[in-house]
Amino acid sequence: MNPPNDHILTIFGASGDLTRRKLIPSIYELFKQNLLPEGFAILGTGRKAFSDESFRDHLKSESKITDEAFLKQIFYVPVNTKDIESYSGLKDRLLELTKKLDIPGNYIFYLATPPGLYPTIAKALHHHSLSRDNGEHPGWKRVIVEKPFGYDLQSAKDLNRELLDYFAEDQIYRIDHYLGKETVQNIMVTRFSNSIFEPLWNRNYIDHVQITAAEEIGIELRSGYYDEIGALRDMVQNHLLHIVGMLAMEPPALSTSAAIRNETLKVFQSLRPLTENDIRKNVIKGQYAGRKFNGAYNPGYLEEEGVSKGSGTETYVAMKLNIDNWRWKDVPFFIRTGKRLPRRATEVVIQFRPTPHHIFCSNDNQQSTPNQLVIRIQPDEGLLLKFGLKIPGAGFKVQDVNMDFHYSDFADTHLPSAYERLLLDSMHGDLTLYSRGDATEVTWEYINPILETWKASPELNLYHYPIHSWGPEAAADLLKSYTGYNWKIPCENLSDGKECIEQ
Ligand code: BG6
Repeated sequence: MNPPNDHILTIFGASGDLTRRKLIPSIYELFKQNLLPEGFAILGTGRKAFSDESFRDHLKSESKITDEAFLKQIFYVPVNTKDIESYSGLKDRLLELTKKLDIPGNYIFYLATPPGLYPTIAKALHHHSLSRDNGEHPGWKRVIVEKPFGYDLQSAKDLNRELLDYFAEDQIYRIDHYLGKETVQNIMVTRFSNSIFEPLWNRNYIDHVQITAAEEIGIELRSGYYDEIGALRDMVQNHLLHIVGMLAMEPPALSTSAAIRNETLKVFQSLRPLTENDIRKNVIKGQYAGRKFNGAYNPGYLEEEGVSKGSGTETYVAMKLNIDNWRWKDVPFFIRTGKRLPRRATEVVIQFRPTPHHIFCSNDNQQSTPNQLVIRIQPDEGLLLKFGLKIPGAGFKVQDVNMDFHYSDFADTHLPSAYERLLLDSMHGDLTLYSRGDATEVTWEYINPILETWKASPELNLYHYPIHSWGPEAAADLLKSYTGYNWKIPCENLSDGKECIEQ
């Protein structure tokens, strides 16, 4: 792949956690693989009064990157993001670097700041003629915004409108790091570059779909953010619905970003709107409760520092959703996500229907289990197909066996992190794996009735689940009551020495 055009990447919020943990390490990976252009610089900005040198020292100690050839491409300029006049320093610095590197005015602005600042920053960039390709700074201009993109439908619409006042839609890169995961992208490749799956990928052969995004960690030190947000906004509205989009979309005619994003939008538009009755019946929320585990007491959500007293914020969601179109009519999708579960594992289970007529028995005299395709998104990324096989010997006894692919089998292949992939795409001007404004609004439109119902009845379906369990019983009952199946526990093939705990 050719390197992207020469450009400068400006990071707002440069001394923050995201820059240290994700952005700088990902850009460094791109640097090591020679994927950055020759004319390239990172310009950090923020309120802190770093010089270029002290900012590099800060990154050295925070990100443990000591490669001078990389660090010397990093610069810093202090900006008070709330003060429009303060951006003239940023502009001067950008122009100085542009001249020094002898490159066009191609700029990416990465907003790693609280979302409340996005409109202010966009407006200030526009005010200083940094938002458009113009005579003063000829070259492309792009802005990357982090999630959360809005707090509800109205705020997402407002934010879109405010950004569109200063940037065009094709300049706005709304990041959802799940779309940057190799295995999420591979859903499309599995479906559309093989002829064996797609003929079965519909209501005639699929019984239901399960999507699990389990996390072992709790809210860490993020109570200020999390207590306001909860799992529905944090994981479902964006990451999990995007996975649904990839699983359920129709084959796009081309692999262009417009074609792909049009198809996922159609999925979101086909989500069956949730009535209050559906929400009461089919949306479960949970909150982790403290317990002694591994010899120590693990505090529950309400005991975490910074969580408001008696908070009803959910750390777990399980729900059923339906897609009303020809392909998916009557095929329920079940999603669940939670913190402080037994392990970190994200996976999709495509549960196929049983054979119409059973003529063989399995070894325990039951029919073999219907086929499952398991897409392991993380960890141990891979694809697993479960099917029945004859046990050698007399008679026709059938046993379930696995056909299993692990990405780790690509021994010499580097599996890029989500941020590496997405940052590189933004440098190339490829929007495919970024959310489009219309899709963002449609997903909020779907989620909004849940937020409203929960606001009116905060205790509705709020269950407390012990740390290190797979969540509330009610979530297990939800799936079972519609399908007769249990959630697949995502721990097969994991050789990390942890116990595999059943539901
Ligand atoms: C983030 C959420 O978007 O995704 C976090 O804000 C969550 O709460 C994280 O922990 C999960 O991402 P991953 O890549 O670890 O599955």
